[in-house]
Amino acid sequence: MSAASDNMIEMQVDVQQILREGVERTDRALEKHLPPVTQTPASIHGAMRHSVFAGGKRLRPVLAMEAARTINAAHGGAKSKEGLPEGIEDLGAAIEMLHTYSLIHDDLPALDNDDLRRGKPTCHVAFGEAIAILAGDALQTLAYQTLAGLHCPAQQTGKIVGLIAEATGTVEGMIGGQVLDLEGEHTKPTAESVFAIHRAKTGALIRVSIVAGGIYAGADADDARRLTEFGTKAGLAFQIVDDVLDMTQDSEHLGKTAGKDVASDKATWPAVFGIETSRKDANRLVNEAFVALEPYGDAAAGLKAVARYLVERTH
Ligand code: IPE
Ligand code: IPE
Ligand code: MG
Ligand code: MG
Ligand code: MG
Repeated sequence: MSAASDNMIEMQVDVQQILREGVERTDRALEKHLPPVTQTPASIHGAMRHSVFAGGKRLRPVLAMEAARTINAAHGGAKSKEGLPEGIEDLGAAIEMLHTYSLIHDDLPALDNDDLRRGKPTCHVAFGEAIAILAGDALQTLAYQTLAGLHCPAQQTGKIVGLIAEATGTVEGMIGGQVLDLEGEHTKPTAESVFAIHRAKTGALIRVSIVAGGIYAGADADDARRLTEFGTKAGLAFQIVDDVLDMTQDSEHLGKTAGKDVASDKATWPAVFGIETSRKDANRLVNEAFVALEPYGDAAAGLKAVARYLVERTH
């Protein structure tokens, strides 16, 4: 079945509205948690804010919120008027801090050496390398400070903190994936190597955003298993599309340097499979991911719409 005909049987939701509201909600929470630029030492707070408020899509917080909405609806849980558990935006803000820290460090001269991010000069270009490194570190510690104050039962908070730390760590997590990505430069990528890189460097944080959002809303073990399965596939699809966009869009549209992966001889999905197969793989993965959400029916419509957007986006 084609992606287009799959789309028709998905419940109609306004994904643009979900994204817009998710950005607003996340930005309000980030504004609350980040120290103002007037706070000493001002340089680092300026640097943190420069990167956090540069116009990210906030996809991970939106996925956390939609996963929470799905579980909330499925369990008939306590609801705010939007169908979201109270305080979920703090979880999204913490995840976005971790994501932004990973971008600041990814762009450093020692890593990808990029000077454009989210349509602005990268953190180290604007503030110098030392402050950029420290701004990344600071966003990571602030993320855990924010997670420690989550408005959900302590047992759920503990579980969320552990899963997020693991997903951003060295063993099949974000940092481990970044290491594989760097060590994979100038080597001939294989299906296995690029799968391992993508699953860890990007897939793990996307997956855990979805699982953590579900746990925040009271997911049980079966829910967590389904969300893990869904998130693993959606996360891989996301990075495949990131690789494709690097080759097919321009820097202005992307807000980051296009054509960087070929120039740096990176191990990407298109480098192994070509662009057309990469596009098909991303679509197929999202369709496969949806199977895990079948028990939720229409309660998962928003979550599915955002996952579909992950592969249909152009930036
Ligand atoms: C880009 O992520 C970095 C990767 C993990 C591939 P996004 O495409 O979500 O970037 P922003 O947050 O919208 O800038
Ligand atoms: C970045 O992957 C992954 C992390 C930041 C963890 P990329 O290097 O492909 O991301 P972009 O393309 O620079 O956004
Ligand atoms: Mg990189
Ligand atoms: Mg990069
Ligand atoms: Mg990329």
